[in-house]
Amino acid sequence: MEMRTTTFFVLFLLSAFTSYLPSSTAFDVLDINGDSVPYFSDDYFLIAHELSINGGGGLDITRTGNETCPLSVIQNTNSSDYGTPIKFRVDPSDFPAPGVFNYVNIQLSSDLKCSGAAPSDWTALWDDEKEKLYVKIKGYDNTVSGSFQIRRALSLGYNLLFCPSGPRPRKCTYLAVEVDDEENRRLVVTESYENRLVVKFKKLEEAPEKSRAYD
Ligand SMILES: *[C@@H]1O[C@H](CO)[C@@H](O)[C@H](O)[C@H]1NC(C)=O
Ligand SMILES: *[C@@H]1O[C@H](CO)[C@@H](O)[C@H](O)[C@H]1NC(C)=O
Repeated sequence: MEMRTTTFFVLFLLSAFTSYLPSSTAFDVLDINGDSVPYFSDDYFLIAHELSINGGGGLDITRTGNETCPLSVIQNTNSSDYGTPIKFRVDPSDFPAPGVFNYVNIQLSSDLKCSGAAPSDWTALWDDEKEKLYVKIKGYDNTVSGSFQIRRALSLGYNLLFCPSGPRPRKCTYLAVEVDDEENRRLVVTESYENRLVVKFKKLEEAPEKSRAYD
């Protein structure tokens, strides 16, 4: 009798808890609908958070300087344009922290054939002239090896950081938007608070079309 009462009580507690469990936990990185973004996910746009001081549209790629292939990661100037879809591979061995994806490999959903390097990973390249580290698509010889971090900053809003390779925990530095002479809103790795990027995750509903135009 005693046993039955205990079992019943445990079952009661379990059902009381499970019925109030949200579909996501405090640890999850969420998309614009409040759904969890999986550790291994394909086809998300990173669009601007409305509270971001940058304005502008989604993250995209373009040619800057004398690039013959669109190897520069930028923010689209058109606030209605979602940009180019990307996919993530998060290192699952890393200890999770609430609202953080650590040591993330980010790559374009469709590889850039003109880059001569596949997959089309995001990476960073030091610009000697500007003395800055810019976010680029793989295709240069002398990129700075590392991974990215995604960190909750606002409700459904996330900062992006670059973490150069090295012993863990790595020092990660924020990405910001810098407008160049050709009006490109380039992603730059910077210690500054100014123009620090805040993005939201928007799942692509149909097949990616956009990056094919660059093949
Ligand atoms: C652009 O031109 C400079 C100087 O001629 C050269 O060093 C650099 O490798 C070129 N970059 C690309 C992407 O071709
Ligand atoms: C901005 O993007 C939207 C959606 O892709 C497009 O319909 C519109 O024509 C674009 N505006 C400009 C000025 O390019």
